[in-house]
Amino acid sequence: MANLLIKNIGLLATPTGSNPRRGKEQGEITMLKDAYVLVKDGLIAAVGEGAIPAGLSDGAEVVDAGGRLVTPGLVDAHTHLIFGGWRQNELGMKLHGVSYLEILAQGGGILSTVRSTRAASEEELTDKAAKVLDDMLRMGVTTCEAKSGYGLTPEDEYKQLRVIHRLNETHKVEVVPTFMGAHAVPEEFKENREGYLRLLCEEMIPTVAREKLAEFCDVFCETGVFTAEESRRILEAAKAHGLVPKIHADEIDPIGGSQLAGEIGAISAEHLIVCPEAGIESLAKGGVIACLLPGTSFYLGATFAPARAMLDAGVAVAVSTDFNPGSCPSANLQLAMNIACLKYRLTPEEVLTAVTLNGAGAIHRADRLGSIEVGKQGDLLVWDAPDLDYICYRLGANLVDTVIKQGEIVRF
Ligand code: NIG
Ligand code: FE
Repeated sequence: MANLLIKNIGLLATPTGSNPRRGKEQGEITMLKDAYVLVKDGLIAAVGEGAIPAGLSDGAEVVDAGGRLVTPGLVDAHTHLIFGGWRQNELGMKLHGVSYLEILAQGGGILSTVRSTRAASEEELTDKAAKVLDDMLRMGVTTCEAKSGYGLTPEDEYKQLRVIHRLNETHKVEVVPTFMGAHAVPEEFKENREGYLRLLCEEMIPTVAREKLAEFCDVFCETGVFTAEESRRILEAAKAHGLVPKIHADEIDPIGGSQLAGEIGAISAEHLIVCPEAGIESLAKGGVIACLLPGTSFYLGATFAPARAMLDAGVAVAVSTDFNPGSCPSANLQLAMNIACLKYRLTPEEVLTAVTLNGAGAIHRADRLGSIEVGKQGDLLVWDAPDLDYICYRLGANLVDTVIKQGEIVRF
């Protein structure tokens, strides 16, 4: 692996540390002017300001950043990347005022994607997801999380997770697997919820953990999906088998998901659109990362998560896309950054931490990813931008110029 020197960096902006940054610390960004970074064998070996020490760049490939902005590669900590089909047919229903949960209750929504995903082969799912990953990488995402949850039978769930493992072998983006068999109760178990809960806890979770198919286990804790008590039971089973809990909480109705997240020590709670004060307290007390998904609020026409109140309470906030065929058919994390700034009122500095170090924290990788520091992985972006304000302001644009993954320039 050759060495790579990035020189002539007008502004290097990065959070620092090996842990997510909470509360006030989230906006504390290190800014270096006229900077350089050396990556050796895939890891960052030197970071500095001003003159490059003699000999440092010997034998290294050189990237001239042209006086522009450099940041860590982006981490999208919440996606539903693996699915068959799309759901454009739901757009008209939405416009006629049919709600997300009504569509689901009629057997559409997630359940319609379950039918398409079951019908798709592992190859088809891999090819489809790889195309999305290509787009994500072009837009600066060097690592992402991906959930199962559109199979809802043991074999179809494992199929989705195997696709994630195949992508990891073939694609430059690192994809982190989460088991989400508790995404909905499948139609064949409609009259037998207990049967599905037992299948999840006694068969799927133990197999996923034993076969190392996933690192995390997520549950959709929502009205008409899984109650807080059912979510607790599923996540306790996950913990007992060594899977780390995550939870979709307070997306539409506040039924206790955020409180549960703190109580069971989830690594992250997702959405939190209607998170009550008691939920925020629980997240702060339990050290749970709030993984917020502004594209979903926008697409559902919902309100926006109380991000400022979370920061005030000392919670660490991550921002991700939630890319999925129903509630956010966009994998554009830069757009999520724009909306986070405008609607959550996060500063550009807080937003940068949310999509780098705190995103990495939500998938247990803050020790290796999410900042530009000696020893961290050489995942970096050169932006066609002078500063952080500019990337939060240019709504909807892809401002990434060069993507560097483990010290190698990605050629598109
Ligand atoms: O995070 N809320 C549950 N899951 C996804 C939506 C999945 C779908 O509609 O297909 C979400 O919003
Ligand atoms: Fe989601």
